[in-house]
Amino acid sequence: MKILVTGGTGFIGSHTCVELLDAGFEVVIIDNLYNSKADVVDKIESITGKKVSFYKSDCCDEDALDKIFNEHQIAAVIHFAGYKAVGESVAKPIMYYQNNLMSTLALCKVMAKHNCKRLVFSSSATVYGNPASVPIHEDFPLGPTTNPYGTTKLMIENILRDILISDDHWSIALLRYFNPIGAHKSGLIGESPNDIPNNLMPYIVKVANKELPYLHVFGNDYDTPDGTGVRDYIHVVDLAKGHVNAVEKVLNSTGIDAYNLGTGNGYSVLDVVKTFARVNNIEVPYQIDPRRPGDIAQCYASTDKAYKILDWKAEKGLEEMCKDSWHFLQMTKK
Ligand code: UD1
Repeated sequence: MKILVTGGTGFIGSHTCVELLDAGFEVVIIDNLYNSKADVVDKIESITGKKVSFYKSDCCDEDALDKIFNEHQIAAVIHFAGYKAVGESVAKPIMYYQNNLMSTLALCKVMAKHNCKRLVFSSSATVYGNPASVPIHEDFPLGPTTNPYGTTKLMIENILRDILISDDHWSIALLRYFNPIGAHKSGLIGESPNDIPNNLMPYIVKVANKELPYLHVFGNDYDTPDGTGVRDYIHVVDLAKGHVNAVEKVLNSTGIDAYNLGTGNGYSVLDVVKTFARVNNIEVPYQIDPRRPGDIAQCYASTDKAYKILDWKAEKGLEEMCKDSWHFLQMTKK
């Protein structure tokens, strides 16, 4: 059975392709390589020992999508393709709205044309805005979002709901990710931001590797156990496995539903820094800086729904996430 993965050479996309192949699915990737490299396809193939069909095309390009659907009998789509940098989205909102919305609309249009109505969408916990309490349940109010990137995720969730209302043959899973980190055990695929990273783990890795002098800890005066921000870090391989379960769910049902993909555990910035330093036996210098505008104190998932309905739960802990993130960097140097 063939699954089309848009953005399949990205961080989460590539790990998901590996898990899909391991689970016995065939994989077709469309990716314009805006934020990834073509050799990721070779790496997916070398990890799994299986071939993937790769199209270097833009997901906004309806003709390119049409060609793929003509050449392959696609059973379901996992839609990752999109811009994802929060700061950049504030600076370039038109680019973000255009790309993230147009790619989704093009995809859904071509899917409907080919009568393929099974979709897993890569959403984010950012759709909850600043939650009134934690853990966050899927039925919590959505928004207001705090940046254009987050708004595109929320808008796309709403678009997909409208599509379902118009045609109840669709089956859609909205996967709301918490904070994915870590990398595949092989060290062949992982997260490699080109510029100075915005997110915590890629920044820690660059500090540990002495590419950056120290970590800026954004605030230690939050209402959390040690005053630093608390998040639900999830190993990207666990997250990828959640997509396989979600694909199975959309293949065997109709309707639309949202699922949190997190561990249900909250760790502070200093928990992550100290765990990373200890398990990798390396120094991570840091200094306490003011809060980052738009940040919230705590964000972690209720994981009951994903467990109950998708039969999925995260299994890897923070130590493994820290080890695998560092191992990936070591491997990129070889
Ligand atoms: C951020 C995005 C969110 C996106 C998610 C993807 C913002 C405001 N939110 O979430 O929309 O879905 O990434 O993974 O950017 N921290 C530091 N120093 C750093 C970097 C981060 O102290 O150099 C702290 C932050 O203040 C936060 C925690 O580490 O408490 C995690 O930050 P980050 O990795 O950027 O993720 P989020 O803020 O949760």
